[in-house]
Amino acid sequence: MEVVANKYLKVLVTGASGFIGRKLSFALAEMGFEVIALCRNIKHPFLIQHRNIRFVKGDILDLVSLEHAMEDCYQVYHTAAMAKMWCKNEQDFYDVNVIGTRNVLSCALKLGVGRVVHTSTCGVWGPTLNLPVSENDPRAVGFPISYERTKYLAELEVREFVKKGLEVVIVNPSRVYGDGPITDSNTVSKMVTGYINGTWHFIPGDGKSIANYAFVDDVVDGHIAAMQNGRNGERYILGGTDVSFNGFFNTLKQLTGKQQVLYKIPVSIIKAYSLLESIKTRLFDLTPFFLPEFADRLKCNQQYSSNKAIAELNYRITPFAVGLGKTINHFSIIKNNINHR
Ligand SMILES: NC(=O)c1ccc[n+]([C@@H]2O[C@H](COP(=O)([O-])OP(=O)(O)OC[C@H]3O[C@@H](n4cnc5c(N)ncnc54)[C@H](OP(=O)(O)O)[C@@H]3O)[C@@H](O)[C@H]2O)c1
Repeated sequence: MEVVANKYLKVLVTGASGFIGRKLSFALAEMGFEVIALCRNIKHPFLIQHRNIRFVKGDILDLVSLEHAMEDCYQVYHTAAMAKMWCKNEQDFYDVNVIGTRNVLSCALKLGVGRVVHTSTCGVWGPTLNLPVSENDPRAVGFPISYERTKYLAELEVREFVKKGLEVVIVNPSRVYGDGPITDSNTVSKMVTGYINGTWHFIPGDGKSIANYAFVDDVVDGHIAAMQNGRNGERYILGGTDVSFNGFFNTLKQLTGKQQVLYKIPVSIIKAYSLLESIKTRLFDLTPFFLPEFADRLKCNQQYSSNKAIAELNYRITPFAVGLGKTINHFSIIKNNINHR
């Protein structure tokens, strides 16, 4: 009986060293699940230790390691992705986001996994022209950004596997912020820590472009709710609050009590700079600070509605000032610890 009980509590999380996956693994472990945390490096510094988490070395591009990790798992949370603005080998976006997702889904189908939650992104809709976008709205523009294109293609993979009989629910977080490691996918924390440390000095354009900010704890809860209550084959936007750049930095100013000097830099200048960055990247094989396709994006709004997740998953949105306050506290504590060493 014990074996059966364990089987039905065992869940796999891919991307367990990531900004979202590490907190998701911890939340599931706290709920009593036996979490198999798939990671490429089981000594990764971002992994959260817990008695219910077992770290298993694996790669979503290596079917053998994936199958080994997924054996006897009842459910799978697939958060692993190439979640970056840029990578040296452009093909990596396709390989990790599309082929990696296909691998996870085919293993799940083969091994009889009960349900998969696939982490997509609101980037599949990209910029929004009028009102906040919801799940059934089409994408308004093309796909100049490889990350968004390959995450969209990954959703098409999901649809194919749903047709084959696998249960999959897609979640689409917006721009996620919160406590956690500062990775390439956690750009909001770069702005927060930069502001706290006095190293962030600019506001893009006139500061009026709006983005949707989702607190990481809400996104984690949304994943678990999607696993429990999401409808098979459906997608759910896991968003937060619509905030302009001006609103973002004003809230930071109020919460930190710091009056950092910020300059509004026209998007045309950011674009010119990013073009130089791309040339530098090609000539000298260096990582770009910013890319032209992202500069164009700074002029656009990115507003998404979480109403479907609120209605069907009981998704809850932490007020922006509360979530940002917790984020600031987290980074201030870390800074103080460093200063007191
Ligand atoms: N952060 C956001 O604002 C945001 C917004 C919307 C959607 N999302 C989506 O949320 C998910 C998680 O994002 P995140 O912010 O947590 O990203 P992240 O911090 O960059 O984490 C990505 C994770 O994927 C893993 N990974 C990459 N390639 C892999 C491979 N070949 N095999 C196994 N694992 C691999 C990474 O492992 P290593 O540590 O070994 O590299 C890392 O654990 C992604 O699907 C992303 O598209 C994120």
